[in-house]
Amino acid sequence: MIPVKNAKDIGKMRAAGKALIEVFRTVEPLVKPGITTLELNAEIEKKILSLGATAPCKGYHGYPAAACISVDDVVVHGIPSLKMLAEGEIVSVDIVLKLDGFCADATRTYAVGAISAEKQRLIDVTRRCFYNGVSKIRAGARLGDAQSAIQMTAELAGYGVVRAMTGHGIGREMHEDPTIENYGRAGTGPLLKSGMCLAVEPMIAMGSWQVKFDADGWTCRTIDGLSAAHYENTVLVTENGCEILTE
Ligand code: MF3
Ligand code: CO
Repeated sequence: MIPVKNAKDIGKMRAAGKALIEVFRTVEPLVKPGITTLELNAEIEKKILSLGATAPCKGYHGYPAAACISVDDVVVHGIPSLKMLAEGEIVSVDIVLKLDGFCADATRTYAVGAISAEKQRLIDVTRRCFYNGVSKIRAGARLGDAQSAIQMTAELAGYGVVRAMTGHGIGREMHEDPTIENYGRAGTGPLLKSGMCLAVEPMIAMGSWQVKFDADGWTCRTIDGLSAAHYENTVLVTENGCEILTE
């Protein structure tokens, strides 16, 4: 069952979204060669707590950190470590926070210093996947309308749509119904209604869509070692479209 939020819940979802925007504002200038992903995670956690929010990822099925920080061939769920960011890498920073009982979830993929034109194109197309997807969202649309727009955008650009992970509904829980694959057919899937909140999050690979997991059980990498990018926002379905709560 996909939860439909009432006016009061929606106010809280908006507030959670605004707080998450604040967190990203403090993170962005720190993404530079030489910072470790553990240091970046510490700054993120400190900011979340300073806003009176909590970090639901920490402790989720044993996940050890507030944020997921995924470098280059790591698609998602990179665990913060002593690894320093290096010039030319791309890094996806995925943050969830919970404020006043409601969650917001967003991801940005950043360039570390100067990056190749190839990697920049991957970041740009992944962002475009998100926008083309959410452009299909409104009350009365089918979820598959958005999913197919994401898939078309990625595959027309020659990229792979990662299938091992999906977007999701969001609200009181970090993960609610529905599951949002980044591929699908227009006209299929659940009917969208005003007041549903969705975390739409294309995860796009430069090459193959297939992934493998490290021994830690979290770190998810492309099977061919090529880079992947991730772009995510929490959105509210409205009568005429959607409201992006995290940008
Ligand atoms: N944003 C990620 C998601 O949508 C959050 C994962 S939290 C973790 O699933 F604990 F699994 F890392
Ligand atoms: Co998410």
